[in-house]
Amino acid sequence: MAQEDVFKKLVSHCKEYGFVFPSSEIYDGLGAVYDYGQMGVELKNNIKQYWWQSMVLLHENIVGIDSAIFMHPTIWKASGHVDAFNDPLIDNRDSKKRYRADVLIEDQIAKYDEKINKEVAKAAKRFGDAFDEAQFRSTNPRVLEHQAKRDALHERYSQAMNAGPDLDGLRQIILDEEIVCPISGTKNWTEVRQFNLMFSTEMGSTADGAMKIYLRPETAQGIFVNYLNVQKTGRMKIPFGIAQIGKAFRNEIVARQFIFRMREFEQMEMQFFVKPGTELEWFQKWKEIRLKWHKALGFGDDHYRYHDHEKLAHYANAATDIEFLMPFGFKEVEGIHSRTNFDLSQHEKFSGKNIKYFDPETNESYTPYVIETSIGVDRMFLSIMSASYCEEQLENGESRVVLKLPAALAPVKLAVMPLVKKDGLPEKAREIIDELKFHFHCQYDEKDSIGKRYRRQDAIGTPYCVTVDHQTLEDNCVTLRNRDTMQQERVPIAELNNIIADRVSITSVLKTLQ
Ligand code: GAP
Repeated sequence: MAQEDVFKKLVSHCKEYGFVFPSSEIYDGLGAVYDYGQMGVELKNNIKQYWWQSMVLLHENIVGIDSAIFMHPTIWKASGHVDAFNDPLIDNRDSKKRYRADVLIEDQIAKYDEKINKEVAKAAKRFGDAFDEAQFRSTNPRVLEHQAKRDALHERYSQAMNAGPDLDGLRQIILDEEIVCPISGTKNWTEVRQFNLMFSTEMGSTADGAMKIYLRPETAQGIFVNYLNVQKTGRMKIPFGIAQIGKAFRNEIVARQFIFRMREFEQMEMQFFVKPGTELEWFQKWKEIRLKWHKALGFGDDHYRYHDHEKLAHYANAATDIEFLMPFGFKEVEGIHSRTNFDLSQHEKFSGKNIKYFDPETNESYTPYVIETSIGVDRMFLSIMSASYCEEQLENGESRVVLKLPAALAPVKLAVMPLVKKDGLPEKAREIIDELKFHFHCQYDEKDSIGKRYRRQDAIGTPYCVTVDHQTLEDNCVTLRNRDTMQQERVPIAELNNIIADRVSITSVLKTLQ
């Protein structure tokens, strides 16, 4: 099945089974805003817990905070967001639709890549086993022609983006490449303008003189402005980290690919404060720690890659993304940045307060350098859902949709089902739930045939199902069914907690990180 179709199916699966709904759906939705349903919120909470515990429980020198979404507006001036958190926008005069100029050009680059890949796929089919892809790519005239056009466009685009960006230069590329509006099909483009991504609102009544404030576009600044509070009250010594999970808001113009790019989303960010000069060593360490955290979920190492940034933001001296293989290609899920002392120095300058760290060992004061790890909860959610979604053909000719979620993250860990709705079986099933519900999330299901009930649990990723039958009333044993293997075993009720608890706990994944 084409990856595009898989993605479409995944989006409808998310809705059908209560993972993700479009926001305000009965009013026809609100662009790039989504709500998490009864299953989605459980998965999301488990992801957050896995991240939080890996930071705060496994590192003695990392603590958490929860700062407010509203912050003093000067913070965003100091951080550079008021002046530089912009996207270059262009409008099509005929359709009145607005686009990101950089995205239109990136899509054009992707079209060249697509053409090349099509040529390669056609040749691979024609030549079969004898096909030498590297040789074909380096000699086929059509491939070489597309590649040359692609490289020239990429070079021009990089130059325009690196020059500020050069807005006229971006527009000229769009005209030269004859890029048309997907709606009107015309090339009737306006100038390119910069558009700030921050949402703003007003605090206080206008009579008192309302203050323009912003909805935070990242959680990180809440950590920077609190770092000395935490350091002093927590008697933290450098190196130390502060972790935070919270909502962030960006007025994204090109919002597509479901929950990949949203206007309201959630971040899990950790700022690690280090001595100047040691930051690149820590950057390397955090790169490794974070990749290990991702890989511990067991989707396979081939799903991940680093994308080291060649062009660095003015405040960074190293940066990388951890990318995940989504149905639409490798995409950034997490950023790891060595942000130097830029943010803290800016806050010192704009607030006029001394926020230097005093090192009791060397008796010196300095502005710490910062390594940041920043991951989007929603992107992590999407990556997990897309890697877990499977359609399987069974030996008996039936098919099933199964979410092979890591058991530790699954919304429901155990479904308990009486074989029939009578003869005391429902009561026995309830007894089991009443015992186990204190340990993990259980669900009771007595409706429809056992086969249908298994399918429902497969579709929400429940790793274990227990069936209570007439024999259970005599021997206190139940049938335990494994979601992935569909193997069934007979186990004593008294053993259930021991068997399952360890396999579905976040702790068991955390232990592999040590
Ligand atoms: N404090 C650094 C920072 O915010 P970023 O690369 O802009 O860096 C970090 O964002 C992470 O937040 C991204 O890797 C991504 O997972 C997530 N993210 C950013 N914008 C997003 C959006 N519009 N929708 C969903 N997730 C987003």
